Amino acid sequence: MDSRLLGGLAPRTFLRRHWQKRPLLVRGALPAFQGVVNERRLVALAARDDVESRIVERRGRRWNTVHGPFDSLAISKRNFTLLVSGVNMHVDAADRLLRRFDFVPQARLDDVMVSYATPGGGVGPHVDSYDVFLLQGPGRRRWTIWLSPGKKIEYVVEPGDLLYLPPGLKHDGVAIDPCFTYSIGFRAPRGAELAAAFLDWLHERGLPDASYADPGLRPARHPAKIPKDLLRFSSRLLGRIDWTGADAADFLGRFLTEPKPHVVFRPARSAGPVVALDPKTQLLYDGRRFFVNGESFTVPASCAPVLRELADRRSMERRRLAAAPLAGLISAWLHSGYARLQRIQP
Ligand code: SIN
Ligand code: CO
Repeated sequence: MDSRLLGGLAPRTFLRRHWQKRPLLVRGALPAFQGVVNERRLVALAARDDVESRIVERRGRRWNTVHGPFDSLAISKRNFTLLVSGVNMHVDAADRLLRRFDFVPQARLDDVMVSYATPGGGVGPHVDSYDVFLLQGPGRRRWTIWLSPGKKIEYVVEPGDLLYLPPGLKHDGVAIDPCFTYSIGFRAPRGAELAAAFLDWLHERGLPDASYADPGLRPARHPAKIPKDLLRFSSRLLGRIDWTGADAADFLGRFLTEPKPHVVFRPARSAGPVVALDPKTQLLYDGRRFFVNGESFTVPASCAPVLRELADRRSMERRRLAAAPLAGLISAWLHSGYARLQRIQP
């Protein structure tokens, strides 16, 4: 990793001092960063229905939001922002940008959001619940960060500057020039969201079943009263809902790799000796158990190291995968659009 990215800090030091704790501004983290999309490309992405986008326009101290897709889009000269999420899924260079931050586990990486703002534009002061790296593309932006009530700092950032913000810190970025900002965002499941998804998982796996029977039923003296037997039946049945640590691990892997609702995989016509995971593919593992885009499977111990290497690095020579042997799995992934072939290893 280029040590300029974190201002000369080793990832270990950055994580210890700053991650989830305090902001960090790195001047020239990516020197001469020109961005990876221009205004036209961003507008084209915002027109797609498999891409999340929004426009925020400021009127004084009010910010108006409209959600995309936008068939036609007029960019106002001032106080305007277009924000496009998940740009890494559609633009390879944005995916490579996201992967520069893979000293944070992939399970925590979310996406690259790109904003284009005209002078005075921004989304307004707010707090995010996730960590974020804000990388400045072309144009300048003024950030105000509230460190504690009444104590704020201001930075004017230029192309290639990087601002890390931990969750929960109020901030406000206002464009000085027409400017692009790249948000490299992270995710962390909320307990209630995780638990609700686990209950769905349990449901899908199969819940204990039994029918209630009352052959010894006697005439009801209080017809509205819930019978004691029925209460006992239901509490016994619910007590039979059971899971193991392995079930929880299988669920978590599927949950973390589940594609976002609007994601579509399309097989690409591709050629070359290198297999690369599609930028939309999430491949994670836990020992010999692998999770890809919401599915799970286990491979023999002899193949696991090669597949783990593919998961960590996201591309590998096809010949090594075939020798593992994982040729069948890779063919299926090429077919479904989970992976593609390319000429060189990035
Ligand atoms: C922006 O790019 O305008 C918003 C980024 C943020 O504050 O989270
Ligand atoms: Co923010």
